[in-house]
Amino acid sequence: MDSFILKRGEIMSKALTFTIFGSTGDLTYRKLLPALYQLEARNLLPDNLTINCVGRKPYTRESYLEVAKPWLIKGSRFPFNEEVYARFSKHLQYIVLSLTDEVHYERLGKSDKKGDYLYYFAVAPEFFEPIANHLKTSGILDQGQHRIILEKPFGIDEDHARKLNTLLDTIFGEDNIYRIDHYLGKEMIQNILTIRFANRMFEGIWNKDYIQEIQITAAETIGIENRGAYYETTGAIQDMVQNHLLQLLSYVLMDKPSDFSPKSIHAKQGEILSRIKTEELVLGQYDQNGALVAYRDEAKVAHDSSTETYVALTLSVDDERFKGVPIFLRTGKRLDQRATYITVKFKPVEGTLFKDLSPQQEMLIIKIQPDEGIYFRFNAKKPGISHQISQVMMNFCQSCIYENRINTPEAYERLLNDAFNQDKTLFTSWEMVDLTWSFASELERFKTEHKVNLQYYPAESQGPHLSSAMLNTYDSQWIPADITEEASSLA
Ligand code: BG6
Repeated sequence: MDSFILKRGEIMSKALTFTIFGSTGDLTYRKLLPALYQLEARNLLPDNLTINCVGRKPYTRESYLEVAKPWLIKGSRFPFNEEVYARFSKHLQYIVLSLTDEVHYERLGKSDKKGDYLYYFAVAPEFFEPIANHLKTSGILDQGQHRIILEKPFGIDEDHARKLNTLLDTIFGEDNIYRIDHYLGKEMIQNILTIRFANRMFEGIWNKDYIQEIQITAAETIGIENRGAYYETTGAIQDMVQNHLLQLLSYVLMDKPSDFSPKSIHAKQGEILSRIKTEELVLGQYDQNGALVAYRDEAKVAHDSSTETYVALTLSVDDERFKGVPIFLRTGKRLDQRATYITVKFKPVEGTLFKDLSPQQEMLIIKIQPDEGIYFRFNAKKPGISHQISQVMMNFCQSCIYENRINTPEAYERLLNDAFNQDKTLFTSWEMVDLTWSFASELERFKTEHKVNLQYYPAESQGPHLSSAMLNTYDSQWIPADITEEASSLA
């Protein structure tokens, strides 16, 4: 285990109390606790950290740890280690508290003026307001520094999100609000700006003169598991498109920021997102296939539910640089493959020089997960006397390198560590959230105006046929993730 422990990071001297509202929820078990355990394994948890796990269920510290431990074992990136677990569990306390009961907040204890307090709202958005109000009225916020991390979805709808933002801003102040989108903590997403702007080759051709189309896929094999109640209120648009996919898209399209400060990056992201328009929309829902049940038969889902578990979109950008370049997005649950990747397809070469040799369009693929890397397919002369053209590929697999694999923190691990260290770079601004709500509302309008009907697709398939048909009208097709595994045709 020792060989996995990385260099000790900057540990804050100030006492930090990290309180998780929603400690018995899926997110805490699956992501937050394993991420915290992992930070302990890397010696990155501040020594003077207290983790308050808050929930309504009447656990004791011991019985909570009993429930949590299997999740840590399952979610651990490194082989699970009892010694690390013992150190980790010393930080943890469990506090029984009903979120809507102001009196219960006394159980969080008094704050002291030198302390740093961070609260994670891992709960449904309707609880954000009571938590914030009760923290305030119970006097907890009177002393010390108090920051909050907000999990998505931020708000129930556009209006609610705006009201909520005003309230939270008044109580905590924008500087103390960290809006999380865990996709921003993914290694290859952070790499997009480097690939684009640290290479003249790409920066120069990143426009409508060279790019034919852009595709973004975030495909999942899992169904909605035990999150039926949550998912029924969001669907794939609010669960994946409105946040993760739009963040990804803005990184792919944004103009070059002047530096890596959150302010510069958010400004450029915002500029491009405000120019995106929906051209086509396909919605789907997974149906039964063999032992895999239909979405409508999942627990806590209405039998006649019209919630979408799949979305495919064609977007256009009202911007000089990308005018006329179609952008295709798709995401779905219970598909036949788990893969998140961005494909940039370049325009065919012009002129008569290669007229009879049929060069293919070059393609750049940024692989985000599960494989991380960059794939580039281009044309080359086939060795031999006759002049023929072949497709060759360069395939950089970042996650194939062992050191990269063990050093790449899971997204939540990185973001929690950043929040502990008061680094907001990879968190989202209110302006971005606001724009994504406008986008979601526009999609709703589009759905109604164009009478978009739900398409059923069998579980473990590639999604609805209409999604492929949508690309066919642009003389295109979805690029499959496994294209990056094909051998070069020169071989
Ligand atoms: C979450 C969504 O934000 O992201 C889930 O709520 C989804 O529905 C998950 O499964 C996907 O995250 P990742 O990191 O596995 O791609």
